[in-house]
Amino acid sequence: METKQISKAVIKRLPRYYRYLGELMEDNVERISSNELSKKMHTTASQIRQDLNNFGGFGQQGYGYNVKYLYTEIGKILGLEEDHNIIIIGAGNLGQALANYNFEKVGFHLIGIFDTNPRLKGVSVRGIEIYMMDMLDDFVAKNKVDVVTLTVPKRQAVEIGHHLEKIGIKAIWNFAPTDLNVSEDVCVKNVHLNESLMTLSYEYRAMYNQDEEDSRD
Ligand code: NAI
Repeated sequence: METKQISKAVIKRLPRYYRYLGELMEDNVERISSNELSKKMHTTASQIRQDLNNFGGFGQQGYGYNVKYLYTEIGKILGLEEDHNIIIIGAGNLGQALANYNFEKVGFHLIGIFDTNPRLKGVSVRGIEIYMMDMLDDFVAKNKVDVVTLTVPKRQAVEIGHHLEKIGIKAIWNFAPTDLNVSEDVCVKNVHLNESLMTLSYEYRAMYNQDEEDSRD
């Protein structure tokens, strides 16, 4: 499949397409037009066509999109055609909450959880044992670890980030509220729920103020 330089905005929308198409497949829907899909996704048909044209379209005139094919192709673009192993470092509130979540559905298998707190040693979350950090290097050497989820306090995160780079980790899903300063060879995705909440606050306020202004007109 021919791909050109894809904008970050389009890439950001792909998981949403993937999710909707997955739901359609669960409902045994075999094909769908851009119009029908746009109604479901509360977007425009032209946005969908434009987005998917970046990857060569996938649609056929008068037929629409083959749901399974599109789902598979978007999965490939997102690198989901093969499964990934993931570990969590920091088994506190957030780390354990994430460990309890089922990422297997999108092909991410949790294979290890690590912490420094001796009280957590041997405790299991969803059948996965929490190991102490001194076992990390050996674990990474013996297992294929594709992604590390970092849920440690801010103070420890940078140092752990450097260590992860040293032992060959290439992808970090960072929840600690700090920049990791690893080299460009390591792909870091920062997740900050606060930022999402602040955006919600902005949008909610904008909407609310708009309603107030409208009612004054
Ligand atoms: P927590 O205190 O419950 O858990 C932190 C865990 O990290 C503890 O179990 C601790 O023993 C462990 N830890 C400390 N140093 C370590 C090290 N060197 N190696 C391995 N494990 C170590 O904290 P919580 O609430 O789970 O938050 C964890 C991190 O996630 C914090 O940095 C917090 O700011 C951040 N956070 C981020 C959110 C986001 O949206 N990105 C939302 C909530 C928390």
